[in-house]
Amino acid sequence: EHCKDKNGMDKVILREARGCSAEVYLYGGQVTSWKNEHGEELLFASSKARLPPPNPFRGGIPICFPQFGSGNLERHGFARNRHWTIDKDPPPFPTNTSNKAFIDLILQHAKEEVKSWPHRYEFRLRISLGPGGDLMLTSRIRNTNTDGKSFTFTFAYHTHLYVTDISEVRVEGLETLDYLDNLKDRERFTEQGDAITFESEVDKIYLSTPTKIAIVDHERKRTFVLRKDGLPDAVVWNPWDKKAKAMPDFGDDDYKHMLCVEAACIENPITLKPGEEWKGRQELSIVHSSYCSGQ
Ligand code: BG6
Repeated sequence: EHCKDKNGMDKVILREARGCSAEVYLYGGQVTSWKNEHGEELLFASSKARLPPPNPFRGGIPICFPQFGSGNLERHGFARNRHWTIDKDPPPFPTNTSNKAFIDLILQHAKEEVKSWPHRYEFRLRISLGPGGDLMLTSRIRNTNTDGKSFTFTFAYHTHLYVTDISEVRVEGLETLDYLDNLKDRERFTEQGDAITFESEVDKIYLSTPTKIAIVDHERKRTFVLRKDGLPDAVVWNPWDKKAKAMPDFGDDDYKHMLCVEAACIENPITLKPGEEWKGRQELSIVHSSYCSGQ
């Protein structure tokens, strides 16, 4: 279902038989909503009014490409600030999408990028909703340069999960891993001990993580399971109170209900020669905490 929001921005709604749904904006190729069969929102969206483009929408799943974080390009790259188009003739995707609601989007080089990132590329993004309501994002990025040049990029699915109360959330699957601390100039540390919990600002890039990460929302007795493929790293971010107040498009208390866990490829950037393609996939599903932790 392709429609416009109240500001005239194009969006697509995916619906699955049991009533789960996802909303995708063509601006940014961004998933902005993912609801379960009871209509409950599973992704965080800022309580402050949506700023008009070129500001990215604060929440959902912005795509960070071709640069995660700060660097030569705009923060988190340009993909989240471009108008994507619906790809009417996508090549076969490796993922089995039978019985699934899905949309294929495409982003190609634009005039604005000529100076900062002078490359031709095709970025195909398939967003699909599985029969159980699982939300899958598959990216295929191809170098279509005709001048023989390679290009290099970093990437993240900047996933904002809605959590009932951040102080009651636990992340499993990252303990004892090495991480780069964004709050300390990306210095490298090793995570200690038990599952990760939250009591202050966190902005870490966990390196070479397992392909499955669980985010347990105790209050709601549910667990987000994030699975990833082609994306070795995982970012965990919560701005906490002070930084939340400083962000113009973020409510003062929003940090209590948000946790970003992002399948990413940052430590070792991807280089593609002309004609080469890279794939990266993130899948989110929900299980009840009691089932997941075997209690
Ligand atoms: C996270 C980064 O992924 O995104 C943080 O790790 C950053 O460092 C956050 O602050 C939000 O970025 P932005 O550009 O959307 O404000």
